[in-house]
Amino acid sequence: MFRLRRYRYYVFFAAIVVFLLYRVARNSEQWETVSASFPHTVPPFTPKPPPARDSGGNTQAHAEVKGGTAEDRGLPQQVPDKSDKANSPNKVPDLKGQHRVASDHGRDEFELPPKSDPAVKDPAVKEAGVVAYDHNEATKVTTAPIINVPDKSNGQGAKDADNNPIKIPTNTETHWTKVPEHFPVPASELIPLPTDKPRKIPTIQYAFEKESATTRETREARQQQVKAEMERSWAGYWKYARGHDELSPVTKKFRDPFCGWAATLVDSLDTLWIMGMEDEFEEALLEVEKIDFTVSKRAEIPVFETTIRYLGGLIAAYDVSSGDNGGYDILLEKAVELAEILMGVFDTPNRMPVLYYNWKPKYASKPKRAGTSVSVAELGSLAMEFTRLAQLTKKNKYYDAVARITDAFYEWQEQGTSIPGIFPEHIDASGCNITAQNELEAAKKVPDIDINDNFNRDRAQRTGATVNEHDELDFGPEVDPGAHPGNPSMAKPHIMKRSQKSTAQMMNSGKQRNSETSKAELIAGENTLPECVSQGLTPGRGMQQYSMGGSQDSTYEYFPKQWLLLGGLEPKYKELHLKATEAVKKWLLYRPMVPDERDILFSSKVVTRGEPETDANTQYEVTHLTCFIGGMFGMGGKIFEVPADVEIGAKLTEGCVWAYESTATGIMPEGGHLLPCSDLKNCHWNQTLYEKELDPLFESREEQVQEYYDRKAKAKAAMEKKKKDEEFARHHAQIKSETGQPRKPALDDKLSRGSHSDHENAGIQKRAAIPDMGEREDDLAESSYATGSKSAKFIGTQDLEDSDPAPGFERSTAGQVPLQTNEDEDEDPSRPLTHAEYVAQKIENEKLPKGFVDVTSRNYILRPEAIESVWYMYRITGDKKWQEKGWKMFESIVKYTATDVGNSAIHSVLDTHTTKLNEMESFWTAETLKYFYMLYSEPNLISLDNYVLNTEAHPFKRPKTSFGV
Ligand SMILES: *[C@@H]1O[C@H](CO)[C@@H](O)[C@H](O)[C@H]1NC(C)=O
Ligand SMILES: *[C@@H]1O[C@H](CO)[C@@H](O)[C@H](O)[C@H]1NC(C)=O
Repeated sequence: MFRLRRYRYYVFFAAIVVFLLYRVARNSEQWETVSASFPHTVPPFTPKPPPARDSGGNTQAHAEVKGGTAEDRGLPQQVPDKSDKANSPNKVPDLKGQHRVASDHGRDEFELPPKSDPAVKDPAVKEAGVVAYDHNEATKVTTAPIINVPDKSNGQGAKDADNNPIKIPTNTETHWTKVPEHFPVPASELIPLPTDKPRKIPTIQYAFEKESATTRETREARQQQVKAEMERSWAGYWKYARGHDELSPVTKKFRDPFCGWAATLVDSLDTLWIMGMEDEFEEALLEVEKIDFTVSKRAEIPVFETTIRYLGGLIAAYDVSSGDNGGYDILLEKAVELAEILMGVFDTPNRMPVLYYNWKPKYASKPKRAGTSVSVAELGSLAMEFTRLAQLTKKNKYYDAVARITDAFYEWQEQGTSIPGIFPEHIDASGCNITAQNELEAAKKVPDIDINDNFNRDRAQRTGATVNEHDELDFGPEVDPGAHPGNPSMAKPHIMKRSQKSTAQMMNSGKQRNSETSKAELIAGENTLPECVSQGLTPGRGMQQYSMGGSQDSTYEYFPKQWLLLGGLEPKYKELHLKATEAVKKWLLYRPMVPDERDILFSSKVVTRGEPETDANTQYEVTHLTCFIGGMFGMGGKIFEVPADVEIGAKLTEGCVWAYESTATGIMPEGGHLLPCSDLKNCHWNQTLYEKELDPLFESREEQVQEYYDRKAKAKAAMEKKKKDEEFARHHAQIKSETGQPRKPALDDKLSRGSHSDHENAGIQKRAAIPDMGEREDDLAESSYATGSKSAKFIGTQDLEDSDPAPGFERSTAGQVPLQTNEDEDEDPSRPLTHAEYVAQKIENEKLPKGFVDVTSRNYILRPEAIESVWYMYRITGDKKWQEKGWKMFESIVKYTATDVGNSAIHSVLDTHTTKLNEMESFWTAETLKYFYMLYSEPNLISLDNYVLNTEAHPFKRPKTSFGV
């Protein structure tokens, strides 16, 4: 209690300091200079306090929103929300509410300047939009406010790359232009779309009966509540982030992590249509028209995200609004515009795409190879979008682009991977066999070694020996042979470190002997890649990871969906799917041990060096991303007539539902681990086993306790002996000296106490070294205790409410040195914890849901995958229990994520007093709300027998006649 109060003071003072600094910053010259360039006649949008309303009806917030529909468009509902302090006009609680806002993730936020104002073109004005302080740093450090520090190193991977708007002044903006292909596919060799009449495919959806009046009433009421969420989120986006990628739903600003082409807007078009928000849809189309895909603040286009969100979004909006009968041709035009840009990524020798496209003509015009460590998901999840575009435009080149990727996967599956049927997470798509190349090189061993050869040989060695997937070499953008066509040695590449996720343009294998081979190859002044010994797809360097989770998921998801989209005319997809699901069943699926013994399944991750039969390390993970898999098994089971797979799909979906139900908020965490049962049938809760798993040091802990008592007993014995000795000595002294004074017994006590507490201190240090508080603050994703400690830090001035002490770490006693021995051992803070105490404390401190052995990532970022599978199971089985399960999920999500202008990602699903992260990814309106809405719609709205949805929930029309039209 005492400590708790102390931290409150820290927080309070920190807040005051921050507030003052914030005021100073606002008034500072710099700020004024920037804001002076705002046109004063039209004030910029700034968050306004919600209108004063009687605070009584707050809990009805969402019901209130319902009323405000079309009339209120452009005027987002200002619903006061008690739980959302960040929206209060008072700036102090503001900072607290915004703890861990976007800047934490390196994603800068901006305010929307008045639309269509010429000043927008002025880079200085853009600068004014930058949030000029970092809440998190400010609250933590309380030094000076940090002025717009773009942080590229710690983002969520590629999304965050190059997100700084100030860098490129508008007037010198480079545009993408079409450049000649280096490795074109001759028209005669284009892989054509199957054009036969689509095959008969088994019906996916359950034959729903007519519903009763009461059922209908409930269903429609729920559907309206879902729509109300959409209306609020859309209005918030429209008002504060229109034309930009994402709304920051707490601070009412915007961000542009996806090239700034209005990701949320494009991603949500079909949702607007499906929910009957046609006015909003048409209004949004005016914005779509303005999008210029030839220019971006990002240097590299993330190909996968761009394809599934933008291209998929445009195509689906076209399809659901009746295609060429709908009159919204702009949608297809824009899709083609974007696809033409993206087609540049396939211009590689093996036609495998570059997945982070350096689109500026200077780079885009150079020959390139695909990466040597690309994620399966990014490579394999372009298929549906390009296929559907090929069908709509009747252009085989779009289909050819992705059919070649499928062929590569198909061949690899035929040849066999370490786990036959599925693919390792990171793959080498470069098409160059480095082993074979090195062998060749060794064979021809040139004697005349010049400086470049040395350089390259050295580098090749280093590449093979030390470079791992976290430390990759990139010679891409730095190489500019075009600048010195006559002098290839000038093209000496630089070695550059890249962050883990930016595997973009990994051309190392291709360019390894660049300067050496270019002597021969740059004859005609034409840039060519050095030749290489070709190969298909192979595992990337390092350990191979097999799972259905992030970086892998949608490639598998697309096999059956692509089969549907092609009217069952391409048998490769069926084979790919059936082999993949066999592998999943054999290697990945597990039944976890959970308290209520529910019969559920999850899919694990297997890590292997390549011999899984002997070296497989299985991680029994639970991740939100993997939750799509229930729907995949369900639908795959239907269309390929494997009823057992539908059953498995249901159990996998139940697993995610359980994960939602298991937490304090009723929302599933991003990731964690469970305990598997060895027997699928016979799986009972075993508390002893669970507790052992929670405490890997289980055995040594009992030893420590034993040592403590032994030590204590020894100390006690020593003390008694000392006492006796001293008494004896004193006694003798008294006898010896007739006038001598007896020593005070009190001093004896003090001495012995002193020595005793020294002894205890040693015990404290030993314990304190195990957990590490420091990690917890800035690392939401990983639990640190497993990886050991760096230093013994105590809970300091960190955010108290939010940071849990590390496991086994007592908040109240950490770092406290007992001043005296407590005779009562139970209250002695230096006493090592017993196993049972440790476990109890760990569960309490981590708020661990029963069944989880850890929660490695406790946030929820509005993801759709769980409700997606629930929706599939409902449409496939017709069982209304799925609607009930879905409703609980919906209520929980809304309860903890709603802000007055949208919905926000949250920091911890394990904590009912969690903080909002101020992020609303476009999949919230594109997917999550769409699936919820369709769960409570008539079953013929986007029937699975007429549509097939891409991985961003964008429905594409399934072909009924040849060519899908
Ligand atoms: C690469 O080359 C080596 C050596 O020639 C060969 O053993 C190996 O099978 C090749 N790998 C692939 C995937 O072609
Ligand atoms: C529970 O687990 C413990 C520890 O592994 C084991 O010794 C015990 O036999 C198990 N109990 C049952 C009922 O299986």
